Amino acid sequence: MYAPRVAEFADDPHSHARPNEIAVGHLHLDVTVDFDEQRLTGRATFRLDRTAADADVVVLDTWDLEIRAVTDAAGAALDHVLGDHDPILGRSLTIETGGADTVVVDYATGGDARALQWLEPAQTTGERFLFTQSQPILARSWIPCQDTPAVRHPYDATVRVPPGLLAVMSAENPTERSADGVYSFAMPQPVPSYLVALAVGDLEFRPLGPRSGVYAEPAVVDAAAWEFADTEPMMEAAERLYGPYRWGRYDLLVLPPSFPYGGMENPRLTFVTPTLLAGDRSLVTVVAHELAHSWSGNLVTNATWDDIWLNEGFTVYFETRIDEELYGADYTAMLLRLGRQALEAELATLAERDTWLSLDLAHRDPESGPDLVPYEKGSLFLRMIEQVVGRERLDAFLADYFDRFAFRSMDTVTFLALLRTEVLEPAGVGDADVQLEAWVYGPGVPANAPEFPSDAFDRVDRQADALLAGTAAADLDTAGWAPQQWVHLLRVLPTDAPHAVLADLDRTFGFSAQRNIEVATAWLELAIRSEYVWGAAEVDDAVAGFLDRHGRSLYLRRVYAKLAATPRGLDRAREIFATAAAGYHPVARAGVARMLDAA
Ligand code: BES
Ligand code: ZN
Repeated sequence: MYAPRVAEFADDPHSHARPNEIAVGHLHLDVTVDFDEQRLTGRATFRLDRTAADADVVVLDTWDLEIRAVTDAAGAALDHVLGDHDPILGRSLTIETGGADTVVVDYATGGDARALQWLEPAQTTGERFLFTQSQPILARSWIPCQDTPAVRHPYDATVRVPPGLLAVMSAENPTERSADGVYSFAMPQPVPSYLVALAVGDLEFRPLGPRSGVYAEPAVVDAAAWEFADTEPMMEAAERLYGPYRWGRYDLLVLPPSFPYGGMENPRLTFVTPTLLAGDRSLVTVVAHELAHSWSGNLVTNATWDDIWLNEGFTVYFETRIDEELYGADYTAMLLRLGRQALEAELATLAERDTWLSLDLAHRDPESGPDLVPYEKGSLFLRMIEQVVGRERLDAFLADYFDRFAFRSMDTVTFLALLRTEVLEPAGVGDADVQLEAWVYGPGVPANAPEFPSDAFDRVDRQADALLAGTAAADLDTAGWAPQQWVHLLRVLPTDAPHAVLADLDRTFGFSAQRNIEVATAWLELAIRSEYVWGAAEVDDAVAGFLDRHGRSLYLRRVYAKLAATPRGLDRAREIFATAAAGYHPVARAGVARMLDAA
């Protein structure tokens, strides 16, 4: 029987921790949330596991944390030292354990706590709000921790918030507010630091199914419950594909608009952007994606951020399999086509090394890596394997993989060895037959990538041709189009499309007032790249409004990038950013700033 090599703990270039000496085995967190000071103060109590029997120091990661005291369980002070500040990694906290099995760190967050966003009532539907975003290496800015995905442990927590607000975590959660603002949480399964999450706000809960529900501010909670009605069927589809859901409940939390992602797979409690509340359930595939992470990512976890395709590429693949179960193959083909289009657009902008599946992010901020390569090239790779070996064989392998490696980490080399011996060789397929090396350690998209024919998109292509040949927008055949078809139309229209045609489109279909974030983004990108925006005040207003209203980093950067491509647009981008940035989450603000600085 083949024994895969999984190192005890992978070396992670993005952490100071040395878990092969001492690893954290359990965390108890006790924090007080101070909205006035915008600060968390608290105590982290770590139970330690000695990986090397004679090890005596435990090393934690910190980012702008004030360390107030370090003691053993009995309160005796332990020697400790904070290392120099590294602009990517922050400061190490090295503690002499003196043989202790428990260390206790009293600390407070600093002014540059990048995981935290503190929102004033004007940025929510009415009350103060706090949420965390720990992935990839921001957990260390609100908890001292071994901030590497290679280390995982259970945690529990006591969180003290202003009475009247509800606190929720990536853990077993309350559904009712407590009178005194004190909440207790337990996450009995071992999780890596990037999956520890907290949110505090004026939250209400609505059940969606027997083991699922949604938390949101009162003004949106009913709309959210309607939008996410398919959550339980998605869970059932996912379990049919790859085995039991191992986390007990699956709840959703709808964040305020500045949440910087579409979704974040915090275990037991996925965080989602309110832009999913499109009113027509057209964007719920993001829920399928975050749910899929309950297997790919949260059960079997990338060992380092260089291996992130093992989280995200697998999850896009799994997501689209769930989509296919619920909404059919035609619908899924549209999603796959849009994914490929977006990947090609990103590939054109990347340095070659950033287009490999196996990334090299050492000495870089992991957030400066490619956005879509791990997702879309990763999922295309699995679709290609599926095409070669057959769906049944790949599914059987994946179900077993999630079971066998549950609660463990996985690196690219180990995964490829498994794929060879358990999938390819039994099917009589060699590396060269599938261009394995080219996919994982080579640039771009190899020629054996599958294609995804879509009648729905063919129909859109015909209408695009008609439009450019002079047909009025009102005379196009667009009856019953899904939002994905509109996105496709706007993406295929050429940059030199006549401005009169774009004006006719906007007048007829109201794109500048469009609320579906996917359609809105595609329209604004078209209006900017064609320079139509400069002659149409309502479109310029729509650009500014969009960049002011949402905080989803990827979409912000898409629109800013289009602006930054011309001198006039770059000036406008800087002008909008100067006022809008205050409302962005620190990670979105940094991402846009990095992009504008490079322009
Ligand atoms: N885990 C990611 C978000 C993430 C990735 C945060 C890397 C920090 C670093 C999440 O599952 C995700 O992929 N979100 C996507 C949505 C998805 C449908 C592609 C997003 O936010 O756009
Ligand atoms: Zn994801």
